[in-house]
Amino acid sequence: MKTIYLIGFMGVGKTTIGSALGRKLDIPVVDTDHAIVEQAQKSIPEIFAEDGEETFRTMEGIVLQRLSKPNTVITTGGGIVLNEDNIEYMRESGIVVLLETDFNLLWKRIRRDPNRPLASSSSKESLKRLYESRKQQYVKAAHICINTSNYPVEKTVDSILLRLKER
Ligand code: S3P
Repeated sequence: MKTIYLIGFMGVGKTTIGSALGRKLDIPVVDTDHAIVEQAQKSIPEIFAEDGEETFRTMEGIVLQRLSKPNTVITTGGGIVLNEDNIEYMRESGIVVLLETDFNLLWKRIRRDPNRPLASSSSKESLKRLYESRKQQYVKAAHICINTSNYPVEKTVDSILLRLKER
């Protein structure tokens, strides 16, 4: 099976759904944010504060390609689609699954999360603008779109598996 990439805005459930999907398919799950933190030996807020977002984005692109392997689920950071090269790479090397959730629900989940520098420093309005500004990029990257809103994880995983089988 090709690499499965899970993409989507902060708080859509990429990590939770990715783990459940990996368990069901019995394949490994790796996470770009996790790999960046391991490599940098510091947290994401520390990388943003000390090295800047641009450095984080450079690391994100490198880590994405390093982690990419067949028979693997890769969960990504919400900003992976900011770089066109990442979009092209994911589309060519795997199947890209976009998880979508209503913004108000996302806001409730991520507001003031100290581990998410873009969310902890933003008002609801400015985060909504970021969400809107990324929508087009997510859709452009995705082979499959799944609405996760308030569904149980298992139901979302089953929807993904069904869509993967149909391809
Ligand atoms: C980011 C999302 C985060 C993390 C970083 C930047 C973004 O990952 O990569 O804080 O730009 O949307 P999650 O989507 O897992 O929160």
